[in-house]
Amino acid sequence: MEYRRLGKSGLKVSEFSYGSWVTFAKQVDVEPAKEMLSAAYEAGINFFDNAEGYEQGRSELVMGQAIEELGWSRDSYIVSSKVFWGGPKPTQRGLSAKHVTDACHAALRRLRVDYLDLYFCHRPDLDTPIEETVRAMHNLVLQGKVLYWGTSEWSGQQITEAHLVARSCGLTPPTMEQPQYNLFERQKVEADYLPVYPMGLGTTIWSPLASGMLTGKYSEGIPQDSRANLPGYEWIRDRLASADGRAKLDKVRALSQLAGQVGMPVHHLALLWCLQNPNVSTVILGASRLAQLTDNLAALEAKALMTPEVMAAIEAIVDNRPKGPERF
Ligand SMILES: NC(=O)c1ccc[n+]([C@@H]2O[C@H](COP(=O)([O-])OP(=O)(O)OC[C@H]3O[C@@H](n4cnc5c(N)ncnc54)[C@H](OP(=O)(O)O)[C@@H]3O)[C@@H](O)[C@H]2O)c1
Repeated sequence: MEYRRLGKSGLKVSEFSYGSWVTFAKQVDVEPAKEMLSAAYEAGINFFDNAEGYEQGRSELVMGQAIEELGWSRDSYIVSSKVFWGGPKPTQRGLSAKHVTDACHAALRRLRVDYLDLYFCHRPDLDTPIEETVRAMHNLVLQGKVLYWGTSEWSGQQITEAHLVARSCGLTPPTMEQPQYNLFERQKVEADYLPVYPMGLGTTIWSPLASGMLTGKYSEGIPQDSRANLPGYEWIRDRLASADGRAKLDKVRALSQLAGQVGMPVHHLALLWCLQNPNVSTVILGASRLAQLTDNLAALEAKALMTPEVMAAIEAIVDNRPKGPERF
């Protein structure tokens, strides 16, 4: 495992990290979670991703209990939470100073920690002035409850505004963004954020396998035991069945052939492709069982196979390089 700086901060994050969306509290409880967290930690993963919105906070409860029972030293791992979807009441969602503060306190309790290493605004909130959110984050930083704050799925313009507000008001700017990034989703990371990286932005990228599509397992139908069959995740099935989904599955078949020629499975190719981008600080793995996690971790052994020729062959198949940044 190698470690990368999170943007211009001094924090070193493992190139692969592990997240709990869909899995913790939905597909797995504390004991299997402990097994997977432990395997990740032993392999050198030091960042574990979570959010108040994952299973209405229950994912954080599972992770908090699991990590406490594993007895890890607090200075040996990085844990995150995200604020936005805390509950149905108007004060329980969004990025008002109140909800940002309440959600932080609740996450600290659920994760059983004194501070959050990373705290993300899970989405932009058009109903709250960016200055209010930046100030709320700054106060949590001053109180020692949050070390680094960031955003998720914000536009380049919104991140820039947060930086400008922080600079003009003497507040703490965001350190990192958590965007989706994979062979099918490239716009933000490869184009929109190009003007923002020089401010020191790090990225903790999500869904590197496009929710499992890039394992190739959806190419012959939907396996019974996959997230696409879970209640509440019907949208994954719908996406796979759409014209766009079918076109992507064709590309996965072509990528699988290429991966076979290179000497690795297609999901290793997809994960290692994300790591080739120097603006990616860490690739957050998802895994609903131990075998998936150990399989995905094994991709690191094949790093040397990702030659410029292989990258070019991938590009020729996906053929979706972003044309340019969003227009402000
Ligand atoms: N900020 C955000 O808005 C946001 C959004 C989404 C995710 N995230 C973060 O990013 C993390 C990763 O996202 P993700 O879970 O969507 O990642 P992903 O890698 O795209 O998908 C992971 C899922 O694919 C399947 N899978 C993974 N490896 C496999 C393998 N080797 N063989 C077969 N199936 C495999 C598993 O699902 P099944 O076994 O159920 O099929 C697994 O849970 C999340 O846990 C979360 O922390 C953040």
